[in-house]
Amino acid sequence: MPPRDPVGLLEGLATTRAIRRYTDEPVSDDDLREILWYAGRAPSGSNRQRFRFLVLRDGERSVVARRLLGEAFRAGWNAKRNADGYRPSRFADSMQRYVDRFEQTPIVVLVCLDRYRDPDPMEGASVYPACQNLLLAARAFGYGGALTMWHLMVEDELRETLEIPDHVALSACITLGVPEGRHGPLKRKPVAEVTFVDRWGEHPDWADE
Ligand SMILES: Cc1cc2nc3c(=O)[nH]c(=O)nc-3n(C[C@H](O)[C@H](O)[C@H](O)COP(=O)(O)O)c2cc1C
Repeated sequence: MPPRDPVGLLEGLATTRAIRRYTDEPVSDDDLREILWYAGRAPSGSNRQRFRFLVLRDGERSVVARRLLGEAFRAGWNAKRNADGYRPSRFADSMQRYVDRFEQTPIVVLVCLDRYRDPDPMEGASVYPACQNLLLAARAFGYGGALTMWHLMVEDELRETLEIPDHVALSACITLGVPEGRHGPLKRKPVAEVTFVDRWGEHPDWADE
């Protein structure tokens, strides 16, 4: 079992990157339960908590779903690599390995939204905070993960295999495992570039780093 990582909240926010290379170590039931507990502490509209976590491990249906997802991820990365013209790099290597070994990913979680009304453009706001909590909690327990969208390519097949009702949205597919590499500083834009004050386009002078 990986050691619990006593990483502080701010350090966790600053270093939790998408982890796509996993060792073969399993994620224990205890750790998974705790990670999902923290994920479920996320806010949601009117505190309705309609997010749902569909965990794919090694059950019969999970194996079928993982195979579907593996094919979708390989097709997704293939299309992205060709469209964006990725040159050989660490990133491209880790993506290739990620999709090639998708079926061996220790844990796959489909994060769903159990809708109680017609789809609306704001509904993601009640499920993505739980996704980010899940990733941060996984980090705290010594795991790493990635939030992905390539499951949408096989949404119909997943619904059928996993008996997911029509009123449930498949909001994200999160993969988890013990990282082979490390978390670390994130490549993100500076505060000044992404912040305006008073009017659109006016960057604050206090935000220079
Ligand atoms: C809405 C959303 C969709 C994403 N979709 C994918 C995806 O389909 N496949 C994937 O490998 N990563 C996906 N990611 C992960 C991002 O590529 C990653 O967070 C981003 O490149 C920054 O990388 P870093 O977190 O390692 O710094 C997604 C992230 C978000 C927030």
